[in-house]
Amino acid sequence: MALLQLQLSQSTICVLGLNRQQQLTKIWDKIILDQQSFVPREVRGTVGESEIVFENNQLGGFAARQIRKVCEQSSPVDIIRRQLEGRKILAIGYGQGWDSGTKQNQYANWLPDVTDAGLQTHWLDVSGEACKLAKKQVSESWAQIYTTKTALCPPPPVVMQGDLRSVLLDPSSVDLDLDQVEVFYLCRTLFALSERGARVALQIMGTCLSDDKDTEKNKRVILINPLKGDNPHRLMQKSINLSKKMILCNLCLGADRKLKVTYDYHWYFGRRYTAMTIQAE
Ligand SMILES: C[S@@+](CC[C@H](N)C(=O)[O-])C[C@H]1O[C@@H](n2cnc3c(N)ncnc32)[C@H](O)[C@@H]1O
Repeated sequence: MALLQLQLSQSTICVLGLNRQQQLTKIWDKIILDQQSFVPREVRGTVGESEIVFENNQLGGFAARQIRKVCEQSSPVDIIRRQLEGRKILAIGYGQGWDSGTKQNQYANWLPDVTDAGLQTHWLDVSGEACKLAKKQVSESWAQIYTTKTALCPPPPVVMQGDLRSVLLDPSSVDLDLDQVEVFYLCRTLFALSERGARVALQIMGTCLSDDKDTEKNKRVILINPLKGDNPHRLMQKSINLSKKMILCNLCLGADRKLKVTYDYHWYFGRRYTAMTIQAE
C-alpha cells in the first residue's frame, strides 16, 4: 500500500526551509486576523458574528472535553510522576484562541485541569499573530491559576513559534524534549498542514507511543478534525486526505505496535468533526 511505503526516514525528510516557514507565517497571520476565516466556505458571508462566536465556543468546549477526559483518568501517582518527570501537553495551533484552554472561552478553559493533572502546557503555532494572542491570554489565565497553587505545580506555560513538522524533526531548536510530551493535542490543525507534513507529524507522534518511548502506555494523541468521508457534500477547504485510515496508518507506522482509539463527535456549522484520542493498546 502506498501509505505504508512512506516510511519515516529522518535522513530524507528535512525541516522546512526558512523561506517556506516565513511564507506559512504570512499566510496564517492573515487567516488569524480574519474572523470569518474559520467559517466553512459554504456558509461564509451568511452568518453573523454571534453565530460565529457561538459555534467556535461550542467547538472549543468539545475539544476541551477530550483533554479533560485524559485529566480525569489521572491518579495521584500520575500527577506526582508527571511533575517529577517534567511531563507536558504539546498543543499545536492556537489560532484565534477558541480552544485555548484559557478563561477567554469559559467552555474551553482547560489550563487549570491540565495543571492540576501535573502537566506543563506548551503551545506551538507557525503564526506570529496566534503566538502574540497566546502569550497574552495564556499568561493572564496562568496569573490567576498560579495564585492558588503550592510549590508542587508544573512550570508556567510556554508559547513557541514554529512549523510543527520542523519542530518534531528537530525539537531541540525550540528547547523541547519530545520524550517529556505526554499529550499531543491538535484541534483543526492537522488538516491545515500539507499532506506530507501531516504524515511526517503523525509518524513522529506515533514513535512517541512506541514500546520504547511509552513503556507504561501513558501517552495520548488527541486529534480533532473534519474527516473527509464524513462530509462528502461539503466543500473542504483543504484537499488533504484526512481519514481515520490515513491517520491510524501513519501513527501505527511510528508506534510499531497496536494502538487503540476513542471517538467522539461534534457538529460545527453542519459539518461533522471527529475527535480521536489515540493511545497504545
Ligand atoms: C484552523 S486553525 C485552528 C486553531 C484552533 N486550534 C481552533 O480549533 O480554533 C489552525 C492553526 O494551526 C496553525 N498552523 C498551521 N500550519 C501550521 C504548522 N505547519 N505548524 C504549526 N502551526 C500551524 C495556524 O497558524 C492556526 O493557528
